[in-house]
Amino acid sequence: MTIQADSIRKAFPILSRTVNKRPLVYFDNAATTQKPQVVMDRLMHYYSYENSNIHRGAHFLSQQATEAYESARATIRAFIHARHNHEVIFTRGTTEAINLVAYSYTKKFVKPGDEVLISAMEHHSNIVPWQIACQELNARLKVIPMNERGELDMEAYAKLLTGKTRIVALTHVSNALGTVNPLKEIIRQAHNMDIPVLIDGAQAIPHMAVDVQDLDCDFYCFSGHKMYGPMGVGVLYGKEEWLNQMPPYQGGGEMIREVTFSGTTYNELPFKFEAGTPNVADVLGMESAVKFISHLGHEHIAAHENALLEYALSQMEQLDQIRFIGTASQRTSVISFLFKDIHPYDTGTILDKLGVAVRTGHHCAQPIMDFFEIPGTVRVSLAIYNTKKEVDILIEALKKVREMFG
Ligand SMILES: Cc1ncc(COP(=O)(O)O)c(C=O)c1O
Repeated sequence: MTIQADSIRKAFPILSRTVNKRPLVYFDNAATTQKPQVVMDRLMHYYSYENSNIHRGAHFLSQQATEAYESARATIRAFIHARHNHEVIFTRGTTEAINLVAYSYTKKFVKPGDEVLISAMEHHSNIVPWQIACQELNARLKVIPMNERGELDMEAYAKLLTGKTRIVALTHVSNALGTVNPLKEIIRQAHNMDIPVLIDGAQAIPHMAVDVQDLDCDFYCFSGHKMYGPMGVGVLYGKEEWLNQMPPYQGGGEMIREVTFSGTTYNELPFKFEAGTPNVADVLGMESAVKFISHLGHEHIAAHENALLEYALSQMEQLDQIRFIGTASQRTSVISFLFKDIHPYDTGTILDKLGVAVRTGHHCAQPIMDFFEIPGTVRVSLAIYNTKKEVDILIEALKKVREMFG
């Protein structure tokens, strides 16, 4: 089966609307993807017929909702090929998943003078939680540098791994550059020194098959809303040997075994890390999104998106004075660029007037912009429903931008 973007588009009601009196061309998928009808139907169905709090009621609805929630966990375990269901922790998204590890893992394993290693191409979500933890614990945050193409400097990486490094945390795919990092090699080198690795998978999971056992990563984080699912839900995958040793991140209902005023014992995995009433409806919506992706097949998704990426790059290259930011040999679905000497915000605003939605600015990755000494970029990010025709509309719109700015 090859991806027929035209027919897939029918599953996404929003794609048939107009913006500024023109058909919507949605190229802001790295910020959030649109949602297929099946995902929205799942949310409606849950609230219409199944709504109930889980894990606590003796009644039918509660049991049914509990089963649905736990079955979603099993679907997601299979999707990322985790070993156990209880290695899948539901969170509010990638940000919360990283914060959980940055708080809980460091509390147990990081001592003053230890080091945490991140990379030069991280989203703020994979920088700030580690900064906070390092400040609290008097540890040092170190950064793997990158080159002008937006590829990690692997020689520098090898030198930065030391006896003091307690964790490596880096992105699978850069949201601002599109770089796909060589995770297996990175993880292998860290594991040679018994250092665990956390992967920020927010920008990878919608585009490529992720097998956490094959990668052998220790933690893998992603968000539902960037993979055709709802906002407000995401996943922390963690190897049970780490999760079992880590203290809880938040206290409350569900995460306890027994509470007395003199002390509390904690529940087993995964509940130890899911304090309070969970976001059941959105977990079920995320499960529908996973089934939607699995039905299409990651290899077909990647083939479609990579062909579209090549096409868009080849068309854009023919425009005068395009400067691409991020030209890594391994990349996916993101094109960051500057057009002539026009401020990215101006380019983005005119594209919007012409019905083309892109993102402009620093993309929550200010250190990347500092590295390239630019205020920000225009970012076109692709998804399964984008078409060559839409790329052609983008090119025509960019020509208009050029005309307007002479
Ligand atoms: C690479 C990367 N990491 C983390 C995040 C944060 O994701 P969320 O806001 O869904 O928690 C994003 C969002 O853009 C991202 O692109």
